Order: sequence, then C-alpha cells, then structure tokens
Amino acid sequence: MAKIKHKIIIASGKGGVGKSTVSVNLARALQMKGLRVGILDGDITGPDIPKLLGIEEARLLQGPDGIEPAQADGIKAASMALILTSRETPVVWRGPMKMAAIKQFIQDVNWGDLDFLLIDLPPGTSDEPLSVVQLIPELAGAIIVTTPQEVALLDSRKAVNMVKAMKIPVLGIVENMSGLVCPHCGKSMSIFGAGGGRGMAEEMNVPFLGAIPIDPAVCALGDRGRTFVQSEIPAKGSFGQIVEKLLAVFNII
Ligand SMILES: Nc1ncnc2c1ncn2[C@@H]1O[C@H](COP(=O)(O)OP(=O)(O)OP(=O)(O)O)[C@@H](O)[C@H]1O
Ligand SMILES: [Mg+2]
Repeated sequence: MAKIKHKIIIASGKGGVGKSTVSVNLARALQMKGLRVGILDGDITGPDIPKLLGIEEARLLQGPDGIEPAQADGIKAASMALILTSRETPVVWRGPMKMAAIKQFIQDVNWGDLDFLLIDLPPGTSDEPLSVVQLIPELAGAIIVTTPQEVALLDSRKAVNMVKAMKIPVLGIVENMSGLVCPHCGKSMSIFGAGGGRGMAEEMNVPFLGAIPIDPAVCALGDRGRTFVQSEIPAKGSFGQIVEKLLAVFNII
C-alpha cells in the first residue's frame, strides 16, 4: 500500500445509484491520462467491477510477489468475483470472513506502483462499508455518488456524515442519473429530479464534482464490459469535467 500515491473510496447512501459505474469510468479516464490505476472491489456480496470492466473470465492467481491482480487494458483489479468458481455463487459469509477477504486484497495483492487506487464500496452506512473503510490506511478521500431524488439525497447526507466522522476528506459529490435527454424529441426530462446533488453539497459544505445524465447507453456499455468514457456519448463530456475537478485537488493537470 505504501507504493500507492492516492487511495479514494467511492461511497453512497443508497444502493444502485452508480458507484461501480463511476468507479470504472473514473479508473479508465485516469488511465487514459497516463496515470497508473487499480480498483479494489470492496463489495464482497455484490462484486460488479469485473463485469463492468469486461474481465469476468480473469482469475486472481498467486505469483512470486503475492496475489497478482487482474488486468483490464492497463487497469489493475481485485474482486471477489475473480475468485468465485461461478458467477451465480452467492457469498454467504458473515462479517469477519468478508473483512478477511478485503484485508487480503489490501495486504496480499501485488498492486505495485500506482497513482490511484479506487475502492468501490458496498452501499450505505452500515457495518460493512464502515469496516471496509477502516481497513484501508491513509485514505486521500471519498467520492459520494447520489441520484437527485429526495430519498437518495437523504441517505447521501448520512454517507457524507459517516465519512466526515471518520476524518476522511470528502472529495466531492457526484450526481448521477441527473436528467434524461429524450432520444425522440431531444427535450430534457428530469426523471429523478435534477440539481439536488449540488444543493446538498452546498448545504453540507462539501465540493460538488458534477452531474452525469441518465443514458441507456451508459447501462448498455456497462453490461458489455465497456466504459462510456471510451465512447462518444454526452455522458463522456459530463464525466470529463468531474475528472478535471478531481485531479485539480491532487494538483494533477
Ligand atoms: N447515468 C446512467 N444512465 C443509465 N444507466 C446508469 C447510469 N448510471 C448507472 N447506470 C446503470 O444503473 C445500474 C446500477 O449502477 P451501478 O451498479 O454502478 O450502481 P451501484 O451504486 O454500484 O450499485 P450497488 O449499490 O448495488 O453497488 C447499472 O446497470 C448501471 O449500468
Ligand atoms: Mg456497486
């Protein structure tokens, strides 16, 4: 871990808001800028990173210097899904065993020299995300992903406060699924509302990194193991601004 410059957690108050999608796209965007990036899938029971990176068939193997991470075109990754024999096998472990697996990903995986390690967390502020966060030394900060509707914002406030209580810097809020441009008429519709993430960030005195629109292509690309930052859809532009703001925090241009 000492060879990793910046460790960032991706958290949310609510499930299904796009943490894993943000994690893989951020990893790809940073890698495309020439930075060395790894993703630690901190979600033991719902490990989606390999699917989203298109490396479901890869496996973590023991090498001379520890467990070798999987590689997705230059992104290193460790995930429970890369250990299980079948993708339909549920992990029915209780807390301590799950944390032992996370510990191994942290201590025994040969990450090598990295500029960024992104840690994709399970949703919420329960015991599980909390325990994962506590296992990772010297975190640079947290990105909180939310969607614009009130129920998500309500839970996101809790996530912000959890991170603050743990003395981890909040790098910023990302509002995902923020409006949809109708493919037929071109008009913008606020499916879950819009702007709530920015409002919440201002209220809680934490940075707002940006918004990503709802786009069926984001989902379709994810399902095919592709990142949208490698495509030409509008979400790519929105995400570019988020990446710039984040890199400015680390004085990287
Ligand atoms: N902006 C978007 N437009 C359309 N679909 C999206 C968008 N963002 C995410 N999705 C889709 O929504 C689903 C949930 O996203 P994702 O798995 O990234 O959320 P999550 O927060 O990691 O969920 P969990 O809490 O279960 O870990 C995925 O199918 C993803 O492709
Ligand atoms: Mg996820």
